[in-house]
Amino acid sequence: MLFFTATHMRKIFDVLQLTRKRLERYSIWEHLKGIWFSRHFAEHGIIVVTGRGMFPKVFNNGGKMYAENCQFYEGVRLEIGKGAVLRIGNGTYLNRNTLIVAETSIVIGKNCRIAWDVVIMDSDLHPIPGKVMEIKPVVLEDDVWIGCRSIILKGVHIGSGAIIGAGSVVTKDVPANAIIGGVPAQVISFRK
Ligand SMILES: CC(C)(COP(=O)(O)OP(=O)(O)OC[C@H]1O[C@@H](n2cnc3c(N)ncnc32)[C@H](O)[C@@H]1OP(=O)(O)O)[C@@H](O)C(=O)NCCC(=O)NCCS
Repeated sequence: MLFFTATHMRKIFDVLQLTRKRLERYSIWEHLKGIWFSRHFAEHGIIVVTGRGMFPKVFNNGGKMYAENCQFYEGVRLEIGKGAVLRIGNGTYLNRNTLIVAETSIVIGKNCRIAWDVVIMDSDLHPIPGKVMEIKPVVLEDDVWIGCRSIILKGVHIGSGAIIGAGSVVTKDVPANAIIGGVPAQVISFRK
């Protein structure tokens, strides 16, 4: 019985420690905004919303969104098509004004850093005349860093640890740990 009580005390202590650590990083207000924003997700961890600009927006036409413990900055916009899925892994943040348009599937791994004004889309949204419009899933593996104002286009798979230089247009798969940049993006080097 004493052991049972001690275990519970330990658990309460751990939760309080975790809460203290989280509040050192994000304010109660940022957590409250996160709770309000998390209503859009089918499953979610602890979500925080930071920044003072426009509250993140979701336009969900019948898809599903899942996020673990994530941070969303002001002005983020998520557009989810019918039957589409958006997954965002633990520890990932989407910086301000990032736009994600999912028509089938966009999966973002753990601890990814998505800078401001990034666009990620899994379709072109309009067909090229005479061609069938392609809709192809996009995957960002863990620890990917996307520089500001980059665009990730349909079908791209970005390997873990890759760095996408600012202003890149990514049209092809990116190997793990590659540093890429340009329009269209090319490999510059590899992380050591
Ligand atoms: C990609 C990046 C990380 C590379 O940094 P770095 O290793 O210091 O690179 P360097 O400045 O030494 O440049 C190496 C080469 O890559 C090129 N390069 C660097 N960034 C580039 C980019 N965004 N697009 C195209 N080419 C780029 C350089 O011109 C240089 O080419 P050269 O060897 O032919 O002269 C950096 O340039 C970058 O784009 N950072 C993004 C910053 C950002 O968006 N932050 C947002 C906050 S989260």
